[in-house]
Amino acid sequence: MKDRLRRPLRIARSLPVVGNSFRKPDLGRGLGPGAAHYRAYVGPPEDYDLIGGIQVGLLLAAGLRERHILADLGCGSLRAGRLLIPYLAPGHYFGLEPNRWLIEEAATRELGADLFRQRKPVFLHTNDFGLYRFGVEFDYVLAQSIFSHTFPDLLMTALRRVEEALAPGGFLLATYFDGEGPRERSGWLYPGCVTYTWAELCEILDRCGLAGYPIDWPHPYQQWFLAARHIDGAAAAALATAIRSPRADALRRVGQAVGPTRIEPDPGVGVQ
Ligand SMILES: C[S@@+](CC[C@H](N)C(=O)[O-])C[C@H]1O[C@@H](n2cnc3c(N)ncnc32)[C@H](O)[C@@H]1O
Repeated sequence: MKDRLRRPLRIARSLPVVGNSFRKPDLGRGLGPGAAHYRAYVGPPEDYDLIGGIQVGLLLAAGLRERHILADLGCGSLRAGRLLIPYLAPGHYFGLEPNRWLIEEAATRELGADLFRQRKPVFLHTNDFGLYRFGVEFDYVLAQSIFSHTFPDLLMTALRRVEEALAPGGFLLATYFDGEGPRERSGWLYPGCVTYTWAELCEILDRCGLAGYPIDWPHPYQQWFLAARHIDGAAAAALATAIRSPRADALRRVGQAVGPTRIEPDPGVGVQ
């Protein structure tokens, strides 16, 4: 009992101290999605860690291992990338993101230059979804909260680029926002969302050479699906059936039940 009482003090002593007070990291809490903060820009900052973890959990459940080559389409501020870059073999993480500042901020505040040098992630800053520019084929393409912002013309461009960049047997894991909203515009909508029904999305996937399957994996706002080239459709269907979320959509509730966070991560530690 005595030992248990002492432990929090030991942890507290190891925290970085600025002057006489603990340094308070700027995690963007309270800012709205799309705000000019590297965590807030990509979604509600309060969910930054959860949505990163959800993506990595799904990839592992879908068979990702360190030897695989992964493209993070619209990787943003490395919400998933900050976990995937250390996990994958050096040079196996490829991020495509038009907003270079998001990656620069994440590199500085989340990962640090040493890790970048060691794990050699590769980045491309373009808004044409041109995965072919990386010059490699991908075992997995991840697109979290990307197709929820594309009108049909840009969605089709993106899916065609994914189809041509997948390795044989490769999979796309992506989210969409289920709904019937208007789609008369073109291009990219942000931070607003473009919605699709599952039937509409399936038809678009099909026209782009992909077969899509819904998957049972948690997300606070969107739905997950898996897609593959038609030739890999049977494997994709089997994988989609095999993926079963252990806790369905209860992750956030479980997190709250565990209790409040008392010790914040400090993105400033050990970073240039
Ligand atoms: C909602 S955020 C999701 C970011 C990341 N996937 C995540 O889970 O945190 C959408 C991201 O798509 C990026 N984006 C905008 N236009 C894009 C385009 N044409 N191609 C690829 N990404 C784009 C934005 O800059 C932003 O980082």
